[in-house]
Amino acid sequence: VKPWISVVIAAAMTAFSVGCDGPTEPVGLFVYNMDDPYIRGFTEFLVAEADDRFSLEIEDAGNSQIIQNEQIERRLASGLSLAIVNPVDRLGAFSIIETLRREGVPIIFFNREPLRRDLDLWDQTYYVGAKAAQSGEMQARLVMDLFGGDPRNLNSFDRNGDNVIQAVLLKGEQGHQDAEARTREGLRSFEDAGFAVEILALEVANWNRNQAYDLMGPIISELGGRMELVLSNNDAMALGAINRMRQSGMFLDSNENGRIDPGDETWLPVVGIDALPEAEAMIRNGFLYGTVFNDSSTQARAIVDLTQAILSNRSLESLEFRVEEGKYVWIDYRPVVLE
Ligand code: GAL
Repeated sequence: VKPWISVVIAAAMTAFSVGCDGPTEPVGLFVYNMDDPYIRGFTEFLVAEADDRFSLEIEDAGNSQIIQNEQIERRLASGLSLAIVNPVDRLGAFSIIETLRREGVPIIFFNREPLRRDLDLWDQTYYVGAKAAQSGEMQARLVMDLFGGDPRNLNSFDRNGDNVIQAVLLKGEQGHQDAEARTREGLRSFEDAGFAVEILALEVANWNRNQAYDLMGPIISELGGRMELVLSNNDAMALGAINRMRQSGMFLDSNENGRIDPGDETWLPVVGIDALPEAEAMIRNGFLYGTVFNDSSTQARAIVDLTQAILSNRSLESLEFRVEEGKYVWIDYRPVVLE
């Protein structure tokens, strides 16, 4: 179990001696796991947005719901004005809501979406996120365009010319709304558009780069020659897959034009989701075909604006973001490929 990380971002006293609508108690930010690069970037955006608007205290649960529950209890005992929570387990939201509701502390969940029936337990619970299905659809669309756009007549990316895309799927954590919906809606999009996809392998790598790297070893040796696509639920796993593929001799500059590109013999489309800075660099270098931007900077801004509105009892109507059903703020995804 990882040690606690506890950072006080701004000194509450100085921050609020001048502001008129600032809370007197800090806002708690509870993240599921700082080892996750997407969540690390997200946290940096939250810290930057909160800046001197309110004092933010951060806890990293190190991927343990038990630890996160303890962190919330402890922070609650020392005083919290609001909790921003990235639950470890989306089903853990139920008891988090029960605990915070007893003390009247409003909750903004993000990234891991609680069940609707849990959010409905109290009117001071919110969720800021992106619609997972949209990212699956956009990812599939990138691939369909790459393969020429016509399901009856795939282009040369259909390496064996059978008009079927032979794909390896890397899935995030089981039960996570993003892993389930990205996989399901991605496959549904292919089907709806008439594209035939053969799943050579579907592996759960839990959003994790190293796990994807490990899982790709046997896949490449057993199925390498048949693979036409690697579709990953996020960038971290896509990057792990690319590492392993490169080690197996793929992505060589076989046409010797000085760069890695789809014209190379051993190039294969790998597609991720998130648009991590490292993934964008890999797109520019030609290794990653594309990704879908999971806009944590806008989500962070929405969370911080919502926090301020709640704490100062301002109407949510005044926000730049639409709050649907008094609970949900949705931020759009955006496809990313080389210009
Ligand atoms: C997803 C993101 C993944 C992972 C996960 C954690 O939205 O795409 O990379 O960070 O959240 O909950």
